[in-house]
Amino acid sequence: MSEKEKEKTTISVIKADIGSIAGHHKVHPDTMAAAAKILAEAKRKGLIIDFYVTHVGDDLELIMTHRKGVDSPEIHELAWEAFKKAAEVARELGLYAAGQDLLAEAFSGNVRGLGPGVAEMEIVERPSEPIVIFMADKTEPGAFNLPLFRIFADPFNTAGLVIDPRLHDGFKFEIYDVYEGRYVVLNAPEEMYDILALIGTQGRYIIRRVYRKSDNEIAAVVSVERLNLIAGRYVGKDDPVAIVRAQSGFPAIGEILEPFAFPHLVAGWMRGSHFGPLMPVGLRDAKCTRFDGPPRIVALGFQVSKGRLIGPVDLFDDPAFDETRRLAQQVADYIRRHGPFMPHRLGPEEMEYTTLPQVLEKLQNRFVKEERRYKVHVKKPSSHSE
Ligand code: 13P
Ligand code: 13P
Ligand code: MG
Ligand code: MG
Repeated sequence: MSEKEKEKTTISVIKADIGSIAGHHKVHPDTMAAAAKILAEAKRKGLIIDFYVTHVGDDLELIMTHRKGVDSPEIHELAWEAFKKAAEVARELGLYAAGQDLLAEAFSGNVRGLGPGVAEMEIVERPSEPIVIFMADKTEPGAFNLPLFRIFADPFNTAGLVIDPRLHDGFKFEIYDVYEGRYVVLNAPEEMYDILALIGTQGRYIIRRVYRKSDNEIAAVVSVERLNLIAGRYVGKDDPVAIVRAQSGFPAIGEILEPFAFPHLVAGWMRGSHFGPLMPVGLRDAKCTRFDGPPRIVALGFQVSKGRLIGPVDLFDDPAFDETRRLAQQVADYIRRHGPFMPHRLGPEEMEYTTLPQVLEKLQNRFVKEERRYKVHVKKPSSHSE
């Protein structure tokens, strides 16, 4: 192992909803303190180098740095332990949906599939290593499809793709099919239209990783866990996180934030069952109110230095995003007026994981079958390959 390889730093962002105050509104400070205590102890013992505990709405976010690589059982167990302790506090306080995202009783080597969301990357730090950590509430991992495409493949968003020779070759997108558990790697700009053909179905095809094409350096990673698919029923939304590297061969911080100036419609919001605008906010506004929303996203900027997390800076806490927030609220007003109608309410495939099937079940025997005088051809969507 070379000296350089030994010095690899891993950034792990692991999150879970372990319960909140007044419905799905906000994490309680005592639960954050309980989690922080576990991580502080791990830092003292040298298991992790640094950490930052925060929340976005009702999601408890653990940001950690260490030398153990991605999917490390020790780091995952540490996160699981922190969530368990926080959930204990939540139960004691009688918080709402205490332990919501902890779907398993016991830890089994990796938190993936147990409920928490995970985004991790292992890097050799550049002399200066700026990163952005995105954390969202009341939405799903596919919410990152549009912004990540724009950051790494859209020259109208990212000037560097055109004018910076280090970005000019483009990026590779690893797209994960959450239904089939398979992935495909596609290149931008050459295969841009193929990429879009997949990622436009954001409930199924999710951008999981982005690599710089010229040297395969990791540029971005997204948590792709979909809670409802894991649990088989609605327990809460799969509120996602992402890590993106910035500057010096990657998009600039401002290019990474730019797509969020458009509050695009994402799935989530009330009961995880509605489309609504994704509103970029500073930490102080990282809480969902109106109709349990609108969905929020926070961006924290750090410099990673010798494994330490220097920062954060609260990147959306800026009047430059005021108009975006205003537009988001206008869109919220507009779409809310559709009430229980699509396209405000999600489509039937997504509603399968809610309590709607139980309501429809009641009507089963009320339907009267009719003889048809013509033949109809009902096709399954071609994206379903089973
Ligand atoms: P500075 O000249 O302030 O370093 O900015 C460079 C840059 O790339 C901004 O997008
Ligand atoms: P969370 O996924 O953030 O827990 O929200 C659940 C919900 O049902 C909000 O209305
Ligand atoms: Mg919740
Ligand atoms: Mg949440």
